[in-house]
Amino acid sequence: SRVPRALSGIQPTAGSFHLGNYLGAVRQYVALQDTHDAFYMVVDLHAITVPQDPVELRANTRTAAAQLLAAGLDPDRCTLFIQSHVPEHAQLAWVMNCITGFGEASRMTQFKDKSAKQGADRATVGLFTYPILQVADILLYQADAVPVGEDQRQHIELTRDLAERFNGRFGQTFTAPVPYIVKEVAKIYDLQDPGAKMSKSAANPKGLVNLLDDPKVSAKKFRSAVTDTDTVIRYDEKDKPGVSNLLRIHSALTGTGIPELERQYEGKGYGALKTDLAEIFVEWVTPFHDRTREYLDDPETLDSVLAKGAEKARSVAAETLAAAYDRIGF
Ligand code: ADP
Ligand code: NA
Repeated sequence: SRVPRALSGIQPTAGSFHLGNYLGAVRQYVALQDTHDAFYMVVDLHAITVPQDPVELRANTRTAAAQLLAAGLDPDRCTLFIQSHVPEHAQLAWVMNCITGFGEASRMTQFKDKSAKQGADRATVGLFTYPILQVADILLYQADAVPVGEDQRQHIELTRDLAERFNGRFGQTFTAPVPYIVKEVAKIYDLQDPGAKMSKSAANPKGLVNLLDDPKVSAKKFRSAVTDTDTVIRYDEKDKPGVSNLLRIHSALTGTGIPELERQYEGKGYGALKTDLAEIFVEWVTPFHDRTREYLDDPETLDSVLAKGAEKARSVAAETLAAAYDRIGF
């Protein structure tokens, strides 16, 4: 049996990944390189579902790729590419659009959230149908596992449904994937709004920690994180979402278990936890900045990594698309 495949994608939209992207998704990309035949892409086709400036989009796409490398993706152990370099994504998406129910697509909560933010009249058909492009992204690589945050679970369910529907109608063609979600980091909260997902597209993301921001700015956000009026440092998702979020971030960055952290902070106040976490974050993010900068300052290496990645991705994607086209009657 072949090595299991992993596939995931990340948007270039904001220019910088945020801490939720990193802990919820990118860290798992890095880990799965060693156990899976892993494909990771910067999803620039998804970025144009909302208005984009061409110059910024091009720059942000490169910055996203540089951050993935800085985070630890190794082009010798995984395939890293830009989605628009592989035309099969748009081609298979059309096929998938044609086997998806309109009502089924309308039930995608991410579309509802995102279109509400755009304003109903401004949301594009591309935004409506982006989960189906995501289905094509995954099925093209016959992915077994899709490392994502909790917000993407419904899209992986849709991917399974459409894979099984296509296979049922036209014969076995696609692998139905499972989501790879690490519970502890699947939903990192905004530091100023515990309970709400940290997101670059939140209405007022005051507690958004961007990895490429000045580390001093981020440290300040940790020190002023919203907690509660109690003083005890205890993991309690329901009654202490702010403190629990800080403990989960601390644990993820240091590798210390949460029960052990509760012991370490016994008798100490929230201030100690926030100050420590600010320092831990700055220590982690500073070399990440440097590595990202190095990749951006060496455009030839970056281009060559992405060209090789696209070539490898295309060979897999083209084979899957040809099989799907054949089954359909093209
Ligand atoms: P965003 O949700 O900020 O628009 P993307 O859609 O590009 O970012 O998401 C990239 C990956 O990061 C996805 O796998 C998504 O599930 C994950 N992710 C995004 N926000 C969070 C969060 N707050 N906590 C955990 N994972 C997250
Ligand atoms: Na690998």
